[in-house]
This record gives sequence, C-alpha cells and structure tokens, in this order.
Amino acid sequence: MTLLEVRGLATAFEDDHGAARAVDGVSFTLEAGQVLGLVGESGCGKSVTALSLMRLVPLPGRVVAGEVLLEGRELLALPEREMRRLRGPGMAMIFQEPMTSLNPVLRVGSQIAEAVRIHGGVGRRAAWDRAVELLGEVGIPEPATRARDYPHQLSGGMRQRVMIAMAISCSPKVLIADEPTTALDVTIQAEILDLLRALRERHRMAVLLITHDLGVVAEQADAVAIMYAGRIVEYANVFEIFDRPLHPYTQALFRSMPSLGGRRERLEAIGGQVPDPFHLPSGCAFRDRCPRAVAMCATAVPPLVEKVADHRAACIRVEEFPRDPA
Ligand SMILES: Nc1ncnc2c1ncn2[C@@H]1O[C@H](COP(=O)(O)OP(=O)(O)OP(=O)(O)O)[C@@H](O)[C@H]1O
Ligand SMILES: [Mg+2]
Repeated sequence: MTLLEVRGLATAFEDDHGAARAVDGVSFTLEAGQVLGLVGESGCGKSVTALSLMRLVPLPGRVVAGEVLLEGRELLALPEREMRRLRGPGMAMIFQEPMTSLNPVLRVGSQIAEAVRIHGGVGRRAAWDRAVELLGEVGIPEPATRARDYPHQLSGGMRQRVMIAMAISCSPKVLIADEPTTALDVTIQAEILDLLRALRERHRMAVLLITHDLGVVAEQADAVAIMYAGRIVEYANVFEIFDRPLHPYTQALFRSMPSLGGRRERLEAIGGQVPDPFHLPSGCAFRDRCPRAVAMCATAVPPLVEKVADHRAACIRVEEFPRDPA
C-alpha cells in the first residue's frame, strides 16, 4: 500500500473579494523510505501544501478539496482529536522558521520531553531522559547539558537540530521538512542534510523535502515535484527531471541555478514573479513569463499528463519542444 497519497488537494484563502486557491489540484504519492522533493520559487504554495497535509493551515485558509491518505486512511475527514493523535507518530513537520516554533521561555529539553509525553504515555523523568537521548541522536554534543538550554542560547544550526529531534520524537512515518536549511550557512546546511539522510535511513521514514534549491534535490531526492502558482507542473523521478526537464518553468529554474556540472557560465534570473493566488492569469499561470507561450496557453489550465514514461508535465507545447534550447 502507498504510504502517503495526496489527491487533488486544494487550499483557499478568503478575503473581502472572495476565495483564492493557493494550492490547487495537487496530487502525489510518497512510499516508505522515499524522499520527494517539492520545489518552486517563493510564494508558489509549498508551505501551504505542507500545512494542508498536517491540517495546520491558519485561518482564513481552508482545505477546500482533495484527499490525503496515510496508509489508506483519509486524514481530511478525521475528527481533530484523532488528527492530533496522528501528528507525531503518523506525520511530523519541521517548520520553515525554527525560532517561531520553539517556545523561547522553555528549556529545549522540556519542549522535546513534552512532545514525547503527549504520545508516549511515559512519566516526566523518562520523557526527559528520552529528550536527552534524542538530542544526542541529532548530533548535539553534551546533550544532557544542552537540554537545559533555552532556544536563544543555541546557534541556528543547533536549534534546527532541536526541531528535528522534536519532529522525530514519535518516529513519524512521514517527515515533512519545510526548507530545513534555508536560514543556515552553507556548511551547517550540509550537516543538517546529512543528519536528515542518516535519520531517514535509520528510521525508514519517508520525507517530503521542501526547498527552492535544485542542488539539494539532486543530492537528497528520489522523486521531484515542481510547483508553480499552487499547482504541480512537472513530476518525475530525480534522474528524469535532471536529464530531461520538460516544462519551461523547470527549464528556467535550471537556467537560474548555479550549474551542478559547471557547464553553464551565465545564470539567467527568471523574469517576472510568481502570481499571487488572487491574481492568476487565465490558462497556464506561467505563460506571461514563458518563452514559449502562444495564444492557446491562455485558454485553459494545462493538465499534468504523462509525456514520457513516468514523467508528467503540465504544458501543451512539450511535444513541440522536447529539449531545452539553452
Ligand atoms: N495566511 C495566509 N493568508 C493569505 N494568503 C496566504 C497565507 N499564507 C500563504 N498565503 C499565500 O499562499 C501562497 C503560497 O504561499 P506559501 O507560503 O505556500 O509559499 P512557499 O512556496 O512556501 O514560499 P516560500 O518559498 O517563500 O516559503 C502565496 O501567494 C501566499 O501569499
Ligand atoms: Mg514556504
């Protein structure tokens, strides 16, 4: 059975003018032990997707369509009480801003112990011991001492390790890591990614790895979903995506990143911006930034369809341009 299956997920935010879908028709699957990279520019809906899966979208946001099946169980229909029981052992999340998700006035050990106690049915002492053990597992030196620290006494990298310890405290089947390294400097980034990889292998977790960094995806992911304006526009295994990016947006992302093989000398920023969900153009949302757009692109949202075996793209012009011109 597929571990996590997301079907047609849509999440809308409402304002005075109506509702706008920040996530619209997102579908993907995640198998045990697999890493799916969810990639796209700022504002394309990655975090809202993650929060929707956890049922933690802040108001006025609301999941308005779709299904989230964890081992066949539909999460969107669960009573909140059962959902709360599932966050942790079923699915856990590392948030984009570690500082905002740690309580500044509680020792980090107590915060992890609290997470352990909610689900574990263990006493205070045992939960504290487990917290220290978890801090050691995520590579924090002298964990028994560090457990008594408050968040501000730790470096950014150490705080992120604390967040990871908390997220894995109930051995989740699915770990959602929302830009786990964006706020950190490059050497620390690499250490955190190595840590995530080691934990994933040890605990056989599946990971939804959210990033805007294709380099991170190349190193970590098995499959990749490229997101634009709330939709997945390309979806394939990591080799396919790097070998044969089909969607003009994916191709533009590659042209805008420092080259992995050192082939490209000039980087091209993608002109224009991700449209916000209240101001989406008709048809393909990428068309006003797309070098290949034609009048037809304005008429309908292109569906995400299989163009090559196990490789989907949402662009009506893929067949005419099978290769990236750059
Ligand atoms: N609480 C909210 N109220 C209204 N709109 C929101 C809210 N949260 C997110 N959005 C909108 O939803 C869209 C997607 O936002 P999201 O945070 O998912 O982007 P992202 O891909 O995670 O970007 P980043 O890489 O910057 O984290 C954006 O247009 C954003 O403005
Ligand atoms: Mg985000």
